[in-house]
Amino acid sequence: MANNRTTPALLHPFGKPASNAYHTLVRAEGVRVWDDKGNEYIDALGSLWYCQVGYGRREIIDAITDQLTRMSTYNTFAPWANGPAEAAAERISSLSPLEGSRVFLCCSGSESVDTAIKLSRLVHQLRGDHDRQVVVRRTRGYHGVNVGGTSVQGIASNRENWGDLLPHVVEIDPDDIESAARLFAEAGDRIAAVISEPLQGAGGVYPPTEGYLERLRDLCTAHGALLVFDEVITGFGRTGNWFASQTYGVTPDLITFAKGVTSGYQPMGGVIVTRAVCDELEADPDFILRHGYTYSGHPAAAAAALANIDIIDNDGLIERAKHVGERLSAGLHAMAADGTLRDVRGVGAVWTGQLPETYSDARAIEVRDTMTTNGVICRAAGTNMVFCPPLVIEDSDIDRCVDVLAEAIRLVPGDH
Ligand SMILES: Cc1ncc(COP(=O)(O)O)c(C=O)c1O
Repeated sequence: MANNRTTPALLHPFGKPASNAYHTLVRAEGVRVWDDKGNEYIDALGSLWYCQVGYGRREIIDAITDQLTRMSTYNTFAPWANGPAEAAAERISSLSPLEGSRVFLCCSGSESVDTAIKLSRLVHQLRGDHDRQVVVRRTRGYHGVNVGGTSVQGIASNRENWGDLLPHVVEIDPDDIESAARLFAEAGDRIAAVISEPLQGAGGVYPPTEGYLERLRDLCTAHGALLVFDEVITGFGRTGNWFASQTYGVTPDLITFAKGVTSGYQPMGGVIVTRAVCDELEADPDFILRHGYTYSGHPAAAAAALANIDIIDNDGLIERAKHVGERLSAGLHAMAADGTLRDVRGVGAVWTGQLPETYSDARAIEVRDTMTTNGVICRAAGTNMVFCPPLVIEDSDIDRCVDVLAEAIRLVPGDH
């Protein structure tokens, strides 16, 4: 085998290409995963904020297998459809707060975001409002890594070194709604859409400040802009409702989703499109929506989504998300009370414990690695130790996660 590599063939996402340090996983069951050395871990991150129902669920595996056996795949470009894709769209629309909505399916959160950006601009173009192209992003927002999502994400380091990104993107303060109000006052007639996670996830788990989302909704409505909620993390039960739009009582025009829709058993994402936007798309019977992915509406992914949604529903996992969050946050708050943590933030079953100011981001990675060694997987977002476990996690495992974090902080003191 002739090659001159000193690193593995697999080039990892969000990793150091020069690194060789990876854990190779071989098995997963419930909330636990095992590596090839026999080490067992509690997965307190639901893989990457997505596995709501835990690993190895027979119902989903059987639904996928059954679908693959009957019809392994077929595309949904016009004029083709398939039963699982139609049923999944119907189910997702009916669970959402967007009445009479339609659902565009794709394969990832990044694709859902790029679809939402394009749909937002398209609607204004179709109305003849050609100057309305600005997309407003919030600092700290994460919206995936396609060129559109990279352009509208508010984590500056993720936008660096890719050359020119999308034009017509403006950033606002993530907490101060007055900065949004000023922008709308100056340029409201050029704003196509505002994109926002209801709870900012990858940027460090920041719930909205009081009244922020409501005011954002009002500004968009008053100025004719669309409000896009990126619910890739918050959708499908994570915040204690099907969607965070329901948790916060604010209804957007477009909802992007992925992750929890299938709990990751098959890749799937999508955009829920409100009726008013659908009316624009449907107005001209000859108009063609020139957008779509080869695997949009893949029947095996749609079958996984339907089985996964059934489990969330039948097993009461939306209520369970509230319980998980209460127990987890109680443990984190206790650590904040004695100064072990600087801050605790979250909603439903997604929480962070932020390390004290004496910790650098690099030190937070050491805390994470110590937790991994001690059998709990969590994520360091800056100095935030993030928990987003499967909603089926048991109380004793939640307590273990908190204990392992406390122990790791004791073993890895702050560095300045
Ligand atoms: C809010 C949000 N949007 C979009 C994405 C991108 O999703 P994907 O990695 O499936 O492309 C993510 C991924 O974490 C996300 O958290």
